[in-house]
Amino acid sequence: MTSMDSPATKEVLSRIRDSLEQEGHGASHVFVVLGASGDLAKKKIYPTLWWLFRDGLLPPQTFFIGYARSKLTVEAIKKQCIPHMKVKKGEEAKVEQFFKLNEYVAGSYDQAEDFSKLNKAIKQKGDPNRLFYLALPPSVFETVTLNLKAVCMSQKDKWTRIIVEKPFGHDLDSSNRLSAHLAALFSEEQLYRIDHYLGKEMVQNLMVLRFGNRIFSPVWNRDNVASVVISFKEPFGTQGRGGYFDQFGIIRDVMQNHLLQILTLVAMEKPPSTAAEDIRNEKVKVLRSIQPIKMDEVVLGQYVGKKDGKGEEKDGYLDDPTVPKGSVTPTFATAVLFVRNERWDGVPFILRCGKALNERKAEVRIQFSDVAGDIFPAGEVKRNELVIRVQPNEAVYMKMMTKTPGMAIECEESELDLSYGSRYKDVKLPDAYERLILDVFMGSQIHFVRSDELSEAWRIFTPLLHQVDKEKPKPIPYVYGSRGPSEADDLFAKKGFKYTGTYRWNSDKK
Ligand code: NDP
Ligand code: BG6
Repeated sequence: MTSMDSPATKEVLSRIRDSLEQEGHGASHVFVVLGASGDLAKKKIYPTLWWLFRDGLLPPQTFFIGYARSKLTVEAIKKQCIPHMKVKKGEEAKVEQFFKLNEYVAGSYDQAEDFSKLNKAIKQKGDPNRLFYLALPPSVFETVTLNLKAVCMSQKDKWTRIIVEKPFGHDLDSSNRLSAHLAALFSEEQLYRIDHYLGKEMVQNLMVLRFGNRIFSPVWNRDNVASVVISFKEPFGTQGRGGYFDQFGIIRDVMQNHLLQILTLVAMEKPPSTAAEDIRNEKVKVLRSIQPIKMDEVVLGQYVGKKDGKGEEKDGYLDDPTVPKGSVTPTFATAVLFVRNERWDGVPFILRCGKALNERKAEVRIQFSDVAGDIFPAGEVKRNELVIRVQPNEAVYMKMMTKTPGMAIECEESELDLSYGSRYKDVKLPDAYERLILDVFMGSQIHFVRSDELSEAWRIFTPLLHQVDKEKPKPIPYVYGSRGPSEADDLFAKKGFKYTGTYRWNSDKK
């Protein structure tokens, strides 16, 4: 059984289809991929559109138009995308059907007459609702949006939605400038700023875990939580994408957006409802309670090659030919933030992210305080931890103490374990982009970043980023495939995170 076959999922899918019908009022829709020749389009956007189409999740009359400067054809787009579309046996005819609904228009990003060609192609689909996905480098955001506004908006009663990909600027000023530019052209309701971490199953689960479980609310505060660690680890380096990465660094690439978004969902108060504005209001309040990060609460690292003769050799960041010589751009960062409100005052939120580390992992780890008035032998009782494993192997587990089974009266570490792999064996979790693009069709802003959230996020990081850009501190080298600089663990310990290394997960039991 796949996710699409389970009764619960069927019920949800049918509700989604109903609301798409209502939302679209039976209208046709055109989804325009701007930057259709690019990497994101090929690897994520077209495959996602295909999956939504295959699963019958798009409104009945939906057409797709690719737009970019390259002189391409739909056939060429298909060739580029097929390797990423995971087409299964028996789906070949459906794929053909999908590409029949596609069109491609070649045009520049700054000429109104080229956008007129695009508009003409859109209008040939009736008077459709319009979705524009900006899968483009930030350097052309402004001209493209100006042209969309001037030439490609629906003149009648149909809606237009603009999906914007990060980076949303590179500091507070540039982000505010971009926001002001977009706000002059489109209303906030028309803008969908994507942070794809908000489309991940376990990130979306945070709301339910927190507000659907009575047991967590009384302990979710400074009286019980010692620290919160939010981690992102990747086991590979920049892989030829170093030129792009070097302009941003890991803080701008991952920490300021993905990790900070997760933090807001962990820390926010219960919203009055699950409506998008109620949730986003609470997220903004969290951000407004965070002071800018200080340099002495940060550890920066950069990976170096692994050439110890053991196992496969790996190049360091500076060996990547696309990285400028002698670059001091960090590929690893740990930073400590404090949410200065009544609930969280004094609790460190430790954000950590890095490339070329020992494993792929994204998780939230809530470490609770020591048991008060401990009656067991000193050091035997370890702290509880609630871990929300975002990826891979989605899970929620609570590390807890239990009596060692048998005659002895001893304490040992064990876990309450909700591993999706065993509890939801046959459920295929949709990709983050599938959920988010579907949300745009449905007009749901819950999982998108509002402009004030963005501005607050940049306010927190900009002084640090400017200091790093100006002073160019040399990042601490760490070996490709390691856990990162040990100074990061020292910072964890300094902030009161206790790591004992005594816990054993018995994976054989599965
Ligand atoms: P541990 O307490 O063993 O490890 C916690 C994490 O601490 C490690 O993953 C490591 O992550 C980090 N760490 C290592 N050294 C230090 C240090 N010196 N200072 C600070 N942190 C350090 O328990 P886990 O909760 O991680 O569980 C271990 C394994 O068991 C995991 O693979 C987990 O997925 C699995 N497990 C799975 C369950 C499930 O599938 N449901 C349930 C329970 C456990 P890092 O290197 O990233 O810092
Ligand atoms: C992107 C970053 O936003 O997220 C990449 O730019 C990173 O550097 C990626 O690799 C990670 O996404 P995921 O979904 O694979 O965890």
